[in-house]
Amino acid sequence: MFFKIGNIKIHIEKDYNAMSARAADIFTEAAVKNPSGAYGFATGSTPIGMYNVLVEKYKEGALDFSQLSTFNLDEYYPIKSDNDQCYRCFMEQRLFNLVNLNKSNINLLNGETGDTSRECSAYEEKIHLAGGIVLQILGIGTNGHIGFNEPGDYFSGATGVVNLTKNTIDDNARFFENRDQVPRKALSMGIRTIMSSKEILLLASGKNKSQIISDTLFGRITPQVPASILQVHRHVRVVLDEAAAEGINNRLLT
Ligand code: GLP
Repeated sequence: MFFKIGNIKIHIEKDYNAMSARAADIFTEAAVKNPSGAYGFATGSTPIGMYNVLVEKYKEGALDFSQLSTFNLDEYYPIKSDNDQCYRCFMEQRLFNLVNLNKSNINLLNGETGDTSRECSAYEEKIHLAGGIVLQILGIGTNGHIGFNEPGDYFSGATGVVNLTKNTIDDNARFFENRDQVPRKALSMGIRTIMSSKEILLLASGKNKSQIISDTLFGRITPQVPASILQVHRHVRVVLDEAAAEGINNRLLT
């Protein structure tokens, strides 16, 4: 199913695999049109299926990464690069090592840096020099965070250090041996950085995302729901599976 809410284009797909295939098609269309653009990637469990399809498309010859540059949204801080929960490892395992990306075109925030403010401003500069992000992929936290921009009193600006909320630490503890191992901070593209992307593709799957998706699309625009700012972006697509769309259906029916 496809429809629009304001400026936002919404695709609702039957299940996780169909959501992943749709998202991969949208990415491929963009990458074929602009093969040397800068693309923003996200981590989390949601985009894994899409990355699998992108790898398949690459193997079939339908997708060429050789000229693309990539910028990841965020990274835990501090985190060692040999910790298998670091987002660099995630991206290498799921995508970067499986396609023909030029290693020098891969950009991630360094979770081991001793100088976070320099690291973050250099990242902003690199995005700028790459001509800006043409398509940013996003997941969403159950509290509405995008990247690691947590609910707060204002929308963040540039890439910087953020404190993770209890909710996010709880949610992400499933990936670590225990909750104590989850880093308490992260480096993240800011909301302004994300909003500067030409196009945005937000993915969500599962019933536990249905309430926050409904708040994001229909609720008040507020830094308490960071993703709600997407309502004012001109080119956003949201791809959901039916479970994540449940809240939308309830809203449309009432
Ligand atoms: C992490 C990432 C986000 C991601 C979110 C949702 O906190 N920093 O970018 O969107 O998790 O993760 P999942 O897709 O596993 O629900």
